[in-house]
Order: sequence, then C-alpha cells, then structure tokens
Amino acid sequence: MTTVVPLTDAHCDALVRFFAELPEGDRTFIREDVTDPDVVRGWAAGSPGVDRWVAVDDGDRVLGYVAVLRLPGWSDHVGEVRLVVAPAGRGSGLGGELARHATVHALEAGLTKLVVEVVADQGAALALFTGLGFTGEALLVDHIRGRDGQLRDLMVLAHHVGDTWAGMRAVGLTEALGDPS
Ligand SMILES: CC(C)(COP(=O)(O)OP(=O)(O)OC[C@H]1O[C@@H](n2cnc3c(N)ncnc32)[C@H](O)[C@@H]1OP(=O)(O)O)[C@@H](O)C(=O)NCCC(=O)NCCS
Repeated sequence: MTTVVPLTDAHCDALVRFFAELPEGDRTFIREDVTDPDVVRGWAAGSPGVDRWVAVDDGDRVLGYVAVLRLPGWSDHVGEVRLVVAPAGRGSGLGGELARHATVHALEAGLTKLVVEVVADQGAALALFTGLGFTGEALLVDHIRGRDGQLRDLMVLAHHVGDTWAGMRAVGLTEALGDPS
C-alpha cells in the first residue's frame, strides 16, 4: 500500500534515491538541485512557506513527491506546486492523489491561488491538473530547451481557490476540507 505523508528526516535517504533514479528531464520539474543529497536532506528541517510530502510504499520506498512553495512578497497568497511520480508508479492514480493532497493542504494553509508549470506536450500532467480544477493561464512558447536542443512550450496552469465551493465540490476537494454545505 502507498501512503502520502509529510516529508521527515526518516524519508531523506529514500528520497535521494528516488530523485537519483528519475530521468533527468523529470528532475527539472523540481527546480532545486535534487542531485545534491545535502539539498534534499536540508528539506526535512522545514522552511517557512514550504510544504513537502512523499508517497511511500510498505518498504519505505519513495514513489512520489509533491511540494507547495509559497511565493514571496506581493504574491504570498500564491503557491507553486511541484510534483513528480516514479516512472514505474505512473498511471495508477498516485500523481492525482499527491496533487489532491497538496491542493487541500494549500487551501487549509490559506493560499488562494495555486500555479503549476507543465510542459505543454505532457498529456498526463495536463489531464491531472485540469481534472482538479486548474485552468490554463499562460503559454510560454519555446520556453524549455531539452538536452537534445529541442525547444518546447511551457504552460502555467492555475487554480483560483477563491472560486466557488461548487467548483471544488465537482472535483472532490471539499470532502477533505469539510464542506460547509
Ligand atoms: C504528471 C505525473 C505526476 C502523473 O503521475 P501519475 O501517477 O501517472 O498520475 P495519475 O495516475 O494520477 O494520472 C493522472 C491523469 O493523467 C491521465 N494519464 C495518465 N497517463 C496519461 C498519458 N500518457 N496521456 C494522457 N493522460 C494520461 C490519467 O488518466 C489521469 O487522468 P484521470 O484522473 O482523469 O484518469 C507524472 O507523469 C510525472 O511525474 N511526470 C513528470 C513530472 C511532471 O510533469 N510534473 C508536473 C508538473 S510539476
């Protein structure tokens, strides 16, 4: 069984292994230098405005990671989501579970807008976030350059939490939040 839990010291070595085994292209979604074990170990101490969770199996292996980072200054009502699932664990709902978990906690923490950057040709990531109520807010053309030199478009998807409870109910987020109706 896989469970989603807040990142603690106990998960750090497994998380370092998880990142090391990811294809390089997937690692870039995390933005921080996850090839440096000290960076990953430093996360467990926690930092203001950053929440991180891991999906772990019965053998304490990390199969997925999600984080919400509160933006600074005049955008401190906005959280940025970063999500990745191990290639072998994809397609069975884990990405959706992690994204839902992060969204619910971000709302509880008082964030009113969430954003996520998705490569425009990543069907699974687009399906996942639009299914949770995110919509396209910006298309950054030729914004990413792969190792092959190929340019790809980046989409910024956003979830405006200030929108109606009805919208959130539709995607099943209110159960976990305690729907007032
Ligand atoms: C995006 C990602 C996290 C999805 O993880 P996952 O565990 O496969 O997600 P799920 O199994 O919950 O599937 C999510 C949705 O994508 C759909 N999907 C899965 N594979 C797909 C594919 N190849 N093409 C289109 N849709 C696909 C699923 O049907 C599901 O939609 P549904 O909930 O409407 O059924 C994973 O592909 C990943 O780590 N990608 C690289 C990093 C990334 O792009 N992160 C997002 C931006 S930070």
